[in-house]
Amino acid sequence: MFNQTEFLTEVPGSTHQKLKAWVDNIARFCEPDLVQWCDGSEEEYNRTTQLLVDKGTFIRLDPEKRPNSFACFSDPSDVARVEDRTFICSRTRSDAGPSNNWVEPREMKNTLEGLLKGCMRGRTLYVIPFCMGPLGSPLSKIGVQITDSEYVVVNMKIMTRMGSKVLDVLGEDGEFVKCLHTVGAPLESGQADAKWPCNPTTKYIVHFPEERYIVSYGSGYGGNALLGKKCFALRIATSIAKEEGWLAEHMLILGVESPEGEKTYVAAAFPSACGKTNFAMLIPPDSMAGWKVTTVGDDIAWIHPGEKGKLYAINPEAGFFGVAPGTNTKTNPNAMASISRNTIFTNVALTSDGDVWWEGMTKEVPAGLTNWQGQPHDPASGKPAAHANSRFTAPASQCPCIDSEWENPNGVPISAFIFGGRRSTAVPLVYQSFNWSFGVYLAATMGSETTAAAFGEIGKVRRDPYAMLPFLGYHMGDYFNHWLQFGRNLPNAPRIFGVNWFRKDDQGNFLWPGFGENMRVLKWIVLRVKGQGSAVESPIGWMPRYRDMDWTGLEDFTREDFAPIMAVDREAWKKELLAHEELFAQLYDKLPKEFYFMRELLLSSLWRSPEQWGLAPEQA
Ligand code: GTP
Ligand code: SPV
Ligand code: MN
Repeated sequence: MFNQTEFLTEVPGSTHQKLKAWVDNIARFCEPDLVQWCDGSEEEYNRTTQLLVDKGTFIRLDPEKRPNSFACFSDPSDVARVEDRTFICSRTRSDAGPSNNWVEPREMKNTLEGLLKGCMRGRTLYVIPFCMGPLGSPLSKIGVQITDSEYVVVNMKIMTRMGSKVLDVLGEDGEFVKCLHTVGAPLESGQADAKWPCNPTTKYIVHFPEERYIVSYGSGYGGNALLGKKCFALRIATSIAKEEGWLAEHMLILGVESPEGEKTYVAAAFPSACGKTNFAMLIPPDSMAGWKVTTVGDDIAWIHPGEKGKLYAINPEAGFFGVAPGTNTKTNPNAMASISRNTIFTNVALTSDGDVWWEGMTKEVPAGLTNWQGQPHDPASGKPAAHANSRFTAPASQCPCIDSEWENPNGVPISAFIFGGRRSTAVPLVYQSFNWSFGVYLAATMGSETTAAAFGEIGKVRRDPYAMLPFLGYHMGDYFNHWLQFGRNLPNAPRIFGVNWFRKDDQGNFLWPGFGENMRVLKWIVLRVKGQGSAVESPIGWMPRYRDMDWTGLEDFTREDFAPIMAVDREAWKKELLAHEELFAQLYDKLPKEFYFMRELLLSSLWRSPEQWGLAPEQA
């Protein structure tokens, strides 16, 4: 049984009384057999992955094909974030706002206490001190996660800077965000453990923003369980950022280097499984020789105002927790290289020779696959071999195009924000908002067709402001106001763009080749930022004509092909603006008043025809 004096004397290097008292408290309550403080060493990682292999959770992949890599299958009930079980328990309901589930904090704590009592029986409680952002950066923040999941320990090792070195930075009284996680599956009387322990019926992902406290119960998967990611670096961080005057965003960060060697950094927000990882690691087509893209981050950006009113961004993470399906040597060779070793795969399929596979990795489905449920894959079943939200966990340092400044403690300067969703209709390939306020409006009214990473019916358009709907720790109206105010304080705010790689024709085919070809859009954006690119004024913003974009090497994409992906259809946009109105109605009490005027302005400018704004195919 768990012995109090044992763990109190076993705190390697921590002199932080508050931290020790918290761990002590939790251990007493959750009643684990053992308490172990993670030091973050390679030795610890190897020991823990081996433990997972011994338990049957991990399968060691062929060391020749995929050195030091593992695959695992989750419980079929535990395959993605659970948005309907995610709560923002601020003091008042209106602080959480209508886009979040809210329960009064004391009531939620009562519920959680009932669940947490003895929840770690038969398990080890791990203490994971971790840092979001480069160690020692003034922009970084520290958290400590308590968990009873070895899967979490090894994933946190890849996704964050973790272990003893974080305790050194924390010192005797440093601030940290408390993150408590349990799979919610106590081993009461020595019964055998499940390969993927979780609570199949009860899950709670709970945030107490004022206390900066996170409690996660019942799930072992991704964003539910790796609490540094969505829970801390987004939900808690957004609420800290509002107080402190910065931004915590669901954004990739990339660097673009022009043939002249000039570097421009941009940050882009796309909803879950809508192409952030692909865009962050983009390889320009051969015909655009001289242009180069480097990666700072693929999921989260912390953005601070700095010198001369410029914005500086860090990637708080140290790894990629990326969507596997669709990733291949054509769509994302950099991701493929990043996952060639030292990688954990969750819910992908296994090949008969000890490697991994997923839909879209190769054209041919290899024979003899094991599917993500551990069963022989039957190609005739029509079911995919890998789960649609299967993921890889890989160190960012392994990415061939990682930016030289990705760990710069002061961040990289951001010149543009890009917002995009998955829209088969209405939204054009690219447009630039008229100014900061219109840009805030553009981002706030973004919509996207839902994917397997999100909650709800797949393929339905939902409003996903800033790609932050599931990740905001407070009232969305307050968030829009924070963005507006943030821009007012910047002498030369970054330009704001909208993009859509996903527009389709009537037959359901993508109108845009996407992936590497997105460099053409990115080039136009970079030129606009530098004040060089030309454009015309459409009802919804500045847009490139065909002649304003670089088509070298893609000449068979004609101005007739270009017209339909750029079309701003009046009827479709009237519907779009109605959907904006619906969102506004939900947020009415805190919605920026500017939004109503901008909506009116957009509506009235729609009456101009494409000929009038110079985007008719023959004018392009
Ligand atoms: P999270 O990690 O869930 O936050 O998502 P992410 O935005 O990083 O997702 P990811 O980059 O893994 O998105 C993968 C999906 O986007 C796959 O279905 C890709 O095929 C698709 N995708 C990415 N880029 C493009 C593109 O340019 N065109 C098209 N049509 N699909 C794309
Ligand atoms: C997302 O869903 O946006 C992710 C994956 O990045 S998870 O960390 O599981 O939330
Ligand atoms: Mn994400």
